[in-house]
Amino acid sequence: MIVPTDSLSQEILDLKRARRAVILAHNYQVREIQEIADYVGDSLGLSQQAAATSAEVIVFCGVHFMAETAKILNPNKVVVLPDKDAGCSLEESCPADRLAALQATRPDFYTIAYINCSAAVKALSDVICTSGNAVQMALAAPPDRELLFVPDENLGQWVMEQTGRPMTLWRGNCYVHVEWTHAAITRIRREHPDAPLVAHPECTKAVRMLADEVCSTEKMVRYCKTSPAPALIIATEAGMLHRLRRECPGKTFIPAPTDHCACNECRFMKMNTLEKLRNCLRDLSPQVTLPDDVMARARQPILRMLSGAGAPAVSTPAEGQ
Ligand code: 13P
Ligand code: SF4
Repeated sequence: MIVPTDSLSQEILDLKRARRAVILAHNYQVREIQEIADYVGDSLGLSQQAAATSAEVIVFCGVHFMAETAKILNPNKVVVLPDKDAGCSLEESCPADRLAALQATRPDFYTIAYINCSAAVKALSDVICTSGNAVQMALAAPPDRELLFVPDENLGQWVMEQTGRPMTLWRGNCYVHVEWTHAAITRIRREHPDAPLVAHPECTKAVRMLADEVCSTEKMVRYCKTSPAPALIIATEAGMLHRLRRECPGKTFIPAPTDHCACNECRFMKMNTLEKLRNCLRDLSPQVTLPDDVMARARQPILRMLSGAGAPAVSTPAEGQ
């Protein structure tokens, strides 16, 4: 966290202390939010932080499914988010009733759900994964079961390439990451022949095949820190550039261009502002609320992921709070 110099940020810190709150922010959040957050990271790191926090209120600066995950792990805590409409195109692509209908036709499916999905979809799944551990979760899945991967077909395809394990893929995608094309990336690589390309696994195969490293946003920080290259091309949402510039001073980060638009910003992630962050802390609203039975069913596959394996989870950290 950076010590704030403006009055709005100071007000947020005062409210945070008064509420005994923790501010968690995703790597795609705007600079001002990243700078005031207690923790900035990827979906995996944020879930781990949410599972471990002793704060009474969790302020989740990311998108709705991330705040829902924090609530599922902390059913007795208040979880607020700056803008309740901050959704995700992947979550939208996989309605729970359609998933349930598919599962009914294939009862043998072992369902691996990318964390970018609703609580209702998590409740229908065997294990959750993030881009940081999807390969590990697929490798840990029971060998005698057929795998269904929802909802990101690009991440799923990449996991199949890494593991050699076939999976049935749900046809969803991230509307931001599919904007990068083979042609646009080839052009920027020609302009910067010495700059490694780092791409998120939500990119299409045509882009991933040009990348030196394909990884989650948190692993991008580690890769860029250890790479000897002075300049790197980054194919993921624009907020990541702020995090990378902060963590790797002196290096140059080149945003990967798309073909015809400046569309490397996620409109959902960018709904959050410092003003809305202040308001949600002040008003304790909007809050995440979910039916108890959905939370109970969704918690098991999340805990299975957090335990690091596909094995059934045995205890719930949130119980007894
Ligand atoms: P990470 O888990 O890699 O941060 O990705 C989350 C996301 O929404 C990517 O679009
Ligand atoms: Fe969803 Fe894509 Fe935005 Fe990530 S960048 S939150 S996957 S729409």
